[in-house]
Amino acid sequence: MLVIGIESSAHTFGVGIVDGERIIANEKSSYNVGTWGMIPSKVAEFHISNARATLERAVERAGIDLEEIEGVGYTMGPGIGPCLQVGELTAKTIAAKLNIDIVPVHHGIAHIEIAKKFAKLKAPIALYVSGGNSQILKLVEKPTKHYAVLGETFDIGVGNMLDNFARSLKLNPAWGSSVAKLAEGGKYIPLPYTVKGTDFAFTGLLTSAVEKIGKADPKDIAFSLQETAFSMLCEATERSLLLTNSRELCVCGGVAQSKRLKEMLSDVAKENGARFGYAPDEFNADNGAMIAYAAEKLIEKGISVPVKKCGIEQKYRIDRGLVW
Ligand code: FE2
Repeated sequence: MLVIGIESSAHTFGVGIVDGERIIANEKSSYNVGTWGMIPSKVAEFHISNARATLERAVERAGIDLEEIEGVGYTMGPGIGPCLQVGELTAKTIAAKLNIDIVPVHHGIAHIEIAKKFAKLKAPIALYVSGGNSQILKLVEKPTKHYAVLGETFDIGVGNMLDNFARSLKLNPAWGSSVAKLAEGGKYIPLPYTVKGTDFAFTGLLTSAVEKIGKADPKDIAFSLQETAFSMLCEATERSLLLTNSRELCVCGGVAQSKRLKEMLSDVAKENGARFGYAPDEFNADNGAMIAYAAEKLIEKGISVPVKKCGIEQKYRIDRGLVW
């Protein structure tokens, strides 16, 4: 079944196309965050300007005609309202024009499922780490099938924390990847560490790191910030593995592109006899293919929604997201 997926929850406007299990296109246009970050109205304008060209590139890459598409999925949430609306309207327009099924997809579930597909894992503990989200999840069957939140951040997502630090240092682009680059060769200095059971918090850590700017070597602060945050995530993830007696672990979301985080989680998995996996970076960064993949699975299960009933939800909880 040929299904197209539209992703637009944050900085990336992505269009992916799947043919059953095969990903045949994954095109994206990403807003340049510069040193200032994301201004919602500006990012939405960027998506509007790039939607058509990105869609055309995806169809061309897939080597199909748009008319051959049999289903469409889009990111319903969570995300930035004006950005989500651009993807929603693009998907609705395609569905209405072709008179095909449309399905709203939870962004986080799409991240986890594409990681499971690439890692060939069945029922892993999933560490989902991105800008706005940091959660530890597991798919459970009761009382209804859903992703249960085993642990999560009490405040901001680890990605937003790293981006915020990057902005404080005026790194360009103001991303976690710039912090990772700066951290190379840094030395450890103690910073606040907050884990409560399987939950964690990042604002105290961020405040302390920002306060050290000008007083310590930026390289050392970046290194210590990253090591502390990732250690917190590893401790909570390890506890989740032990409490659920799980033997599989995956990491997904934008921050899963971090080589250091994957190294640390790989050690956690090894020490606990668990298989560990993740998707290639292209699919951990926001992308349309993961939305197309999730939509295809939902449509195959007979789940779709009338175009008129489709909407967006900025704070769409993952435990309420459609699963198959
Ligand atoms: Fe994401």
